[in-house]
Amino acid sequence: MGLAVRELSGGYGSVPVVRGATFHVDDGETVAVLGRNGSGKTTLLRGLMGLLPRCSGSVLLNDRPVDRASTHERARAGIAYVPQGRDIFSELTVEENLRLGHVLAGRRMSAPLPAELIGRFSWIPERLAQAGGTLSGGQQQMLAVMRMLIAGPQVLLLDEPTEGLAPAIIDELADLLADIVASEQMSILVVEQNVAFALRLARRGYIMDHGEIVAAGTATELTSDEMVDQYLSV
Ligand SMILES: Nc1ncnc2c1ncn2[C@@H]1O[C@H](COP(=O)(O)OP(=O)(O)O)[C@@H](O)[C@H]1O
Ligand SMILES: [Mg+2]
Repeated sequence: MGLAVRELSGGYGSVPVVRGATFHVDDGETVAVLGRNGSGKTTLLRGLMGLLPRCSGSVLLNDRPVDRASTHERARAGIAYVPQGRDIFSELTVEENLRLGHVLAGRRMSAPLPAELIGRFSWIPERLAQAGGTLSGGQQQMLAVMRMLIAGPQVLLLDEPTEGLAPAIIDELADLLADIVASEQMSILVVEQNVAFALRLARRGYIMDHGEIVAAGTATELTSDEMVDQYLSV
């Protein structure tokens, strides 16, 4: 159950960027993929979502293959992707941005918003009518994550959610996700350069380097001096 990926290779042209990635995220588990800038983390997630011009390998969601499915079908099947950067619609209101979570899950846009979830940050109910673009960078990132939590996926793919955020906001985001991990049966694959953040959520993970998964292990194993020196330090 969960997500199982075998020998995923893919990229943008004839030379694959990601090569032979094999890994899994169990049901309800949070797993980190760590790696330096340019190591292929975003390309890996794009491959999982069916967003690469070229891709091969198998992707199983709850033991069912989705690697031939369109991006839309994968989303309907329960894989949600929060891309790198602030992925919200600046012109739409906060409420409309959140309601897109319903649409992604195949529900009517007018379905009720889960009050408990959106009430987790006091600024959300207060700003439902405000344009998304007027929020701070940190709030926009929270909104992007919140929209996917409203979609209620089985597997949530997070691409460098902490990028460009202030440390206090990173803490808030980590708290939100830690609560979700504890309360929902959701699998999360978090791709990060921020090792401390990723390993606050995930007990184990993988390291990517030059498009390949070069190590797998527990948080302790992945943060050994040797690993950090070789693959993670900038
Ligand atoms: N749209 C693209 N077209 C061609 N090459 C790309 C594109 N996006 C990324 N790449 C290349 O793929 C490699 C991995 O990039 P990426 O997956 O974004 O790494 P990361 O997310 O780990 O920083 C880099 O060498 C990058 O130049
Ligand atoms: Mg990236």
